Amino acid sequence: MKGIILAGGTGSRLWPLTKRTSKQLLPVYDKPLIYYPLSTLMLAGIREILIITTPQDSDDFKSLLGDGKSLGISIKYAVQPKPEGLAQAFIIGEDFIGNNPVALILGDNIFYGSGLGRRLSEVINLDGATIFGVKVEDPNRYGVVETSESGKVISIEEKPSNPKSNKAVPGLYFFDETVSSRAKLVKKSSRGELEITSVIETYLIDDKLKCLNLEVNTVWMDCGTVDSLIDAANFIKSVEHKIHFKIGCIEEVAFRQGWIDRIQLKNLADSLGNNEYAIYLISLLENNSTHVR
Ligand code: G1P
Repeated sequence: MKGIILAGGTGSRLWPLTKRTSKQLLPVYDKPLIYYPLSTLMLAGIREILIITTPQDSDDFKSLLGDGKSLGISIKYAVQPKPEGLAQAFIIGEDFIGNNPVALILGDNIFYGSGLGRRLSEVINLDGATIFGVKVEDPNRYGVVETSESGKVISIEEKPSNPKSNKAVPGLYFFDETVSSRAKLVKKSSRGELEITSVIETYLIDDKLKCLNLEVNTVWMDCGTVDSLIDAANFIKSVEHKIHFKIGCIEEVAFRQGWIDRIQLKNLADSLGNNEYAIYLISLLENNSTHVR
């Protein structure tokens, strides 16, 4: 399975913070926001990743993450000239996806929970599409999924003014290899965007859509607003201090997945200089555990 991180958009809800910098490069406590969705894909075992950015931010992402080799993965880059909707990722990424299933994660979505990687790797190799549902207080801000008592999807709507349920669809989706051709058939919505929910709806019509509840102990945060960004940073800080482990540490995930060895991890730590993050990476070498969180 391949993975796409969509890190485009003007981030206008965060201006002036994002006037000169991409939202996905802003700090969330001790690392750039994009580390979190990247680590989620890596936890799911995905090693071939395409990052889609705005044309002006592309070089910044490349200089931060490079080609991924030092993490034992492959990172390719593409640009989205204008923010014309999430579903455009499948058209821009068509060649990258080829004949493979693909996971799409939004560059401003953070997921954290024990066993998340294992659970995600279970949905891989699917036929159709898999989305998640999370109960929220303000569903009209999101894609909203309505399910029957048995968990079958009845409807999915983008930011409805009268939501049919309180279940939001977080920005992590798994699709089969037909997703690009489906995205090409979708019409733009009234706000001029190719909506991800329209692509998902085509799977619902074909009876190929599965919606899983995110486990109770999985936290999902969308960092699209100033308050949600600071809430996420405070959450990460408080959890990291409690559990004495980092969340979204891409170097650690690569090491625990066995994609890089001890020497490579040491090199990554050395390249970061002398700071708390580098010291943390070195501490992983002293602890022989290879358990993947
Ligand atoms: C997007 C999607 C929406 C989804 C949300 C998750 O909305 O369109 O369906 O629920 O991400 O973060 P946006 O945040 O781009 O407004």
